[in-house]
Amino acid sequence: MALLVTGAAGFIGFHLSRVLLSRGETVVGFDSVNEYYDPALKEARLSVLAEHPGFTFIRGDLADHEAVLAIAERHPGITTIVHLAAQAGVRYAEVNPWAYIDANAMGQVSMLELARRLKRVTHFLYASSSSVYGGNTKLPFSETDPVERPYSLYAATKRGAELTAASYAHLYAVPSTGLRFFTVYGPWGRPDMAAYMFAKAITEGRPITVFGEGKLKRDFTYIDDIVAGILGCIDAGPSVAARPDAEGGPPHRVYNLGNHRSEVLSRYIALIEQALGRKAVIEHKPRPRADVPETYADISRARADFGFEPTTPIDLGIPRFIAWFRSWHGV
Ligand SMILES: NC(=O)c1ccc[n+]([C@@H]2O[C@H](COP(=O)([O-])OP(=O)(O)OC[C@H]3O[C@@H](n4cnc5c(N)ncnc54)[C@H](O)[C@@H]3O)[C@@H](O)[C@H]2O)c1
Repeated sequence: MALLVTGAAGFIGFHLSRVLLSRGETVVGFDSVNEYYDPALKEARLSVLAEHPGFTFIRGDLADHEAVLAIAERHPGITTIVHLAAQAGVRYAEVNPWAYIDANAMGQVSMLELARRLKRVTHFLYASSSSVYGGNTKLPFSETDPVERPYSLYAATKRGAELTAASYAHLYAVPSTGLRFFTVYGPWGRPDMAAYMFAKAITEGRPITVFGEGKLKRDFTYIDDIVAGILGCIDAGPSVAARPDAEGGPPHRVYNLGNHRSEVLSRYIALIEQALGRKAVIEHKPRPRADVPETYADISRARADFGFEPTTPIDLGIPRFIAWFRSWHGV
């Protein structure tokens, strides 16, 4: 199988590409390697991928339509697209709102246009997010719930990407699957996310900022479980994952990929402290308006359609993340 993985230098794209390559697949990676967080981490991930003969890398920006469409001429054999490249993070939009439009809104259209041109593509998978559930209070979050209350521009662009994919599925029958990831963490993780930020501050003896009195709850999902979910969806194929609905609607579906456990942030922090053998100095701040109070995934749809079954509680996942963090930073 030949796959295009966008965001291959990113956290999830790197892990997914690594497993695909070790299975013997051919992977074309696409990423701008931008400076939203330390590009040295992205380059280090790419060097690991470059060790595999089946890996080809294209450095490019999603907003550069011609560069994206040129992939169709260079790699006409691609059969599956896993579109993970995006401007992530819910708070950065205060600094750079345009990055979300360029990467997440424009990027989705670029990739769907590419999918139309790649005649052998049978399945377009793309990253959505638990953030689309926004201010919903019914728990756990189910794919059938309304998603009309985004708390951040990030969430709005992710919901927009889902609707864009639905329209392409209707217009051009591009079989598409949106995967709503729930707070992913683990080795090679993102420096802008809680686990990494807390570990770094604690090891450097700086205070950590905790929003909402540590009472915010998140469905923290370990990276290997997310990769297993994406692979399950790829292997199930569009006839399962992106099949038309009962009314004969377009071949487009969304799935929650979460751990199916909602954990209070203070417990997550306690596990990080325990793994580092050091207590955090905590500064409390009110919850930012872009952050939701709680996330919790109903995963029954992914379980039924492609056997998704996460196996890593945070008690196991956090020590694994900290072990990697120590080796990466030499602490
Ligand atoms: N990690 C999570 O907890 C989480 C949760 C929900 C959804 N997601 C989504 O999953 C996907 C992967 O997330 P991640 O955690 O690996 O993030 P990441 O930031 O590590 O990876 C995204 C990659 O996309 C690249 N990129 C950004 N803008 C680009 C552009 N305009 N053109 C080309 N490349 C560009 C970046 O350089 C980066 O390497 C994203 O779509 C993200 O929104 C992640």
